[in-house]
Amino acid sequence: MTEPRSWLFVPADSEKKIGKALDSAADAIIFDLEDSVAPDGKVRAREVMKGLGSRSGGPQWWVRINPLRTDDHRLDLELLGTPDIYGIVLPKAESGADIAELAHRTGNIPVHAIVTETAASLFGLLSYRDPKSSLAAMSWGAEDLSAALGASSKSDESGELSFTYKLARSLCLAGAVAAGVQPVDGVFADFRDEAGLTAEARAAAREGFTGKLAIHPAQVDPINAAFTPGPDEIAHARAIVDAFDAQPGAGVLAVGGKMVDRPHLLQARRVLERVR
Ligand code: COA
Ligand code: MG
Repeated sequence: MTEPRSWLFVPADSEKKIGKALDSAADAIIFDLEDSVAPDGKVRAREVMKGLGSRSGGPQWWVRINPLRTDDHRLDLELLGTPDIYGIVLPKAESGADIAELAHRTGNIPVHAIVTETAASLFGLLSYRDPKSSLAAMSWGAEDLSAALGASSKSDESGELSFTYKLARSLCLAGAVAAGVQPVDGVFADFRDEAGLTAEARAAAREGFTGKLAIHPAQVDPINAAFTPGPDEIAHARAIVDAFDAQPGAGVLAVGGKMVDRPHLLQARRVLERVR
């Protein structure tokens, strides 16, 4: 399957929301056992998960377990194999060693790591490069990071994300690409602001992210649209690939009156890979 564009979180203790998530067009659903479930709700959330069983087709099912080295983490892992889980979302990951530790317990199930949620995590973003690893995606988060850093806000006075969180976001992008896994942009919390979400998702797509976390079903369609190449983008990419196919020995060519060389060809191929 191609990389999920939309990754929709749903609190695993809410059957009502789970029903809605399953009806959405999300490419991936993340059943959350961590921060959106209160400590008292975790046992029930695991029971709900066990009841999900299996199915054929549809979106990928992922489960966000609790962080390594917690009692809940251990209990969450006992769930694996019961419902039809495609992969694990690991919060508060700090380095590639955490992925190896998880894989040691779970085998080779795909892992999506949230990689910027602790202070130490910012220093580990180049450590995920391991060709044998089961890592499939990396995303970033500002909420837990700002709490960890003792910040009173993650934004500056104009409402823009402060430098520290922009840094985390860029390091996540570069770290994921360096590791050869999917870079996934973080959540847009203001779920009633569709225009704001679309602008943020498009900006992420321009920068190289190929998907985005969602927290509300209304965010799924705008995210899917932002990460799907449009007709003009596809036509332009095809023109570049065709031009190089026609002249395989060429290093540089003109397409549509502009210079294109190897980086443009790589970029064009990447666009065509994302066409659905
Ligand atoms: N998945 C599935 N269904 C969801 C949903 C989600 N993530 N978020 C909201 N819904 C449902 C609601 O239950 C509601 O259903 P109803 O019409 O049958 O009552 C409908 O969509 C509309 O929801 P709305 O009233 O707009 O929002 P809300 O106030 O009920 O919920 C949140 C707001 C933020 C609590 C909710 O979106 C949520 O739980 N999001 C996920 C949070 C999460 O998992 N966080 C962890 C990652 S950061
Ligand atoms: Mg969190």
